[in-house]
Amino acid sequence: MSIQSEIMARGKPDAVQFCAYVEDDESRAVVEQVVRDLVIAHANVVKGSIRTAIKALGQRRSPKTLIVDVCKSELPLSDINELAEVCEPGVSVIAIGDRNDVGLFRELLNSGVSDYIVKPLTPTLVQRALLATADGDSRSRQTTRLGRLVATVGARGGVGATMIATSVAWSIANRRRRRVALLDLDLQFGSVALSLDLEPTHALREALENASRIDGLYIERSMVQHSDSLFVLSSEEELIDEMPHDAEAVTTLISELRNKFHYVIVDLPKSLTRDSCQVLKDATHLVVVTDLSLAGMRDTLRLVQLALQGNAACQVTIVANRVGEFKEGEIAVAEFEKAIGRKVDLKIEFDAKNVAAAMNIGKPASSHSKPVGQSIEHLIDILSGVGASQKPGWLARLWNR
Ligand SMILES: Nc1ncnc2c1ncn2[C@@H]1O[C@H](COP(=O)(O)OP(=O)(O)O)[C@@H](O)[C@H]1O
Ligand SMILES: [Mg+2]
Repeated sequence: MSIQSEIMARGKPDAVQFCAYVEDDESRAVVEQVVRDLVIAHANVVKGSIRTAIKALGQRRSPKTLIVDVCKSELPLSDINELAEVCEPGVSVIAIGDRNDVGLFRELLNSGVSDYIVKPLTPTLVQRALLATADGDSRSRQTTRLGRLVATVGARGGVGATMIATSVAWSIANRRRRRVALLDLDLQFGSVALSLDLEPTHALREALENASRIDGLYIERSMVQHSDSLFVLSSEEELIDEMPHDAEAVTTLISELRNKFHYVIVDLPKSLTRDSCQVLKDATHLVVVTDLSLAGMRDTLRLVQLALQGNAACQVTIVANRVGEFKEGEIAVAEFEKAIGRKVDLKIEFDAKNVAAAMNIGKPASSHSKPVGQSIEHLIDILSGVGASQKPGWLARLWNR
């Protein structure tokens, strides 16, 4: 694939697909020449540093490929870290600088940068770096730069898994300004679109039936946009229809989404299908939602065991929801924890009035109910690693992993 078709392959054709922030006129002229030589359409070469890039990209869609100048940067690695926070996960970043330092080169590569070029730039050096980002080898090096995959599942029907998936997605997108894709894998009974007051579509079913057509552009056209950072993919299918089950299509779809979104949140159906198990295998996080009932306790335990069997690295969070609804009949949290052999990470109280009011007008529960909103923020802290007892290093945090 040519660099141009590679760069154009994903995203809207009219969006800027290549962007360079370069300080000095000489280097800028070289990059501009390479853009002309490789006939890269929709390119933008501007005067500026990595700081300019951070500021600009925090407010708009990321290009597919990005060149940033780290010459004047006192802490290039922490600047790259900051850049990763504002960029979409799948961006290829080439850094340019004036320090011919093997240590820095290695650290930049480790941190997800595709290449580091030392000034003075030449057209050959820049071309080679751009072509390398377009080939398969360099892409496999970028596997750490994927959005988080958060699966939510209810231990019982009606415990609030969908309420939590939509509230978490909405809050990450609107309060934390991250790009979020929300998928409802229950093609028949799913209620994600309904709870966000979105038009029902057949988009997810069509995507799963046309795995070979799944690419960035196809997905972008299929998703329903709830806000500038929240995108929903769901289906509302006939109740008696046979649903497609293609674990490979699910994998393709999710890996495309993880390239474009900081968070991919998947609301799994109550009865786990093979597709759900595929999501569980790849999930970075699993949120098991339960009530404090005997059946909830048994199935929480079974779900956690199933998820960890296939994916030991998955970070599991247990949420007890609707707490206080049946004060007398609820199992004490300590007893519940003893039975499942792990902590209940979060308790969300039952707030009938405000949650129902939010649902009825198609708003996420967390925007209407104070206690639910606070718990959802706490859950997002857990999912994003904020306040974790063992703080991840900056390398681990890079590209939002
Ligand atoms: N903390 C809560 N307080 C009050 N009502 C809740 C709470 N959590 C969920 N609900 C309500 O419970 C019902 C079931 O929630 P839902 O998210 O659809 O469950 P699930 O997806 O697990 O089947 C919905 O009407 C929802 O509004
Ligand atoms: Mg549900």
